[in-house]
Amino acid sequence: MTTVTESDLQTLRDALGPLRGREQIAERLLEASAKHSFDPDKELDWDSPPEDGKWFWPPELVSLYDTPLWKRMGHDQRLELARHEAASLASLGIWFEIILMQLLVRHIYDKPATSNHVRYALTEIADECRHSMMFGRMITWGDGPTYSVPRRYHNMARVLKSVSTTPGSFAGTLLGEEILDWMQRLTFPDERVQPLVRGVTRIHVIEEARHVRYAREELRRQMVTAPRWERELARLSCGEAARVFSVCFVNPRVYENVGLDRHEAVAQVRASGHRAEVMQTGAKRLTDFFEDIGVLNGVGRRLWKKSGLLA
Ligand SMILES: [Fe+2]
Ligand SMILES: [Fe+2]
Repeated sequence: MTTVTESDLQTLRDALGPLRGREQIAERLLEASAKHSFDPDKELDWDSPPEDGKWFWPPELVSLYDTPLWKRMGHDQRLELARHEAASLASLGIWFEIILMQLLVRHIYDKPATSNHVRYALTEIADECRHSMMFGRMITWGDGPTYSVPRRYHNMARVLKSVSTTPGSFAGTLLGEEILDWMQRLTFPDERVQPLVRGVTRIHVIEEARHVRYAREELRRQMVTAPRWERELARLSCGEAARVFSVCFVNPRVYENVGLDRHEAVAQVRASGHRAEVMQTGAKRLTDFFEDIGVLNGVGRRLWKKSGLLA
């Protein structure tokens, strides 16, 4: 007969502690979702056309802002570039959300379906479904093209979303969510911006706040409990994701589509101090958190620096 020792009990308590916390957090997030969820199809006025002279994206957040090329551009061309960048970011958002939905489905595959943790993940998948439809509709409303990421990154993500393990998945999730969220927090209160874009970003900011909470809590747990190889893999894959993210962030076709030279524009964005500051400020809350829980050690850190998202 086996006897349960005090140390066995402690091991059990230690294992249960984080899980109980996990259930409580998911319960609170479910309550928040019940109170603040939106149906963008009904909530937003899709029939009203874009307003003349309003920005589709705040000018300071447009990639070329403050560069010599920007200074040479006329006002209408700047507005056009902002319209294309908004379409490019919305396309990127859809790409991320589709990856995230698959990661979440895989995350809950082996977990008890009646737990709050799983119920919340399903709620988040439903949020992301509505977001991707909303972003798609916004691109059409603004008469923009969809901007897909280069084929090699599209395929790289195909592999990643199929094999990535939990810590890497949640680190990647936060990368996709937090920097765009930072930009959207500046966009929705901005009166210079198209009212529909303000409505879209407002809904997204409100619903993303709980996604960020869920992913942060899970990643924090994982960086303590996951085996060493998995934590190392998370650092590496997240660093690589940061590099790809910064390359794909704005699709260079936007420059051609407003009549600019693509290579010149890309070079000026790369050399822009303003742009570097925007991207690093946008990533700061995230990189501070990653620093805190040990995602930025070793090779991961070098990749983050290379991405330009970490000063
Ligand atoms: Fe979303
Ligand atoms: Fe999200």
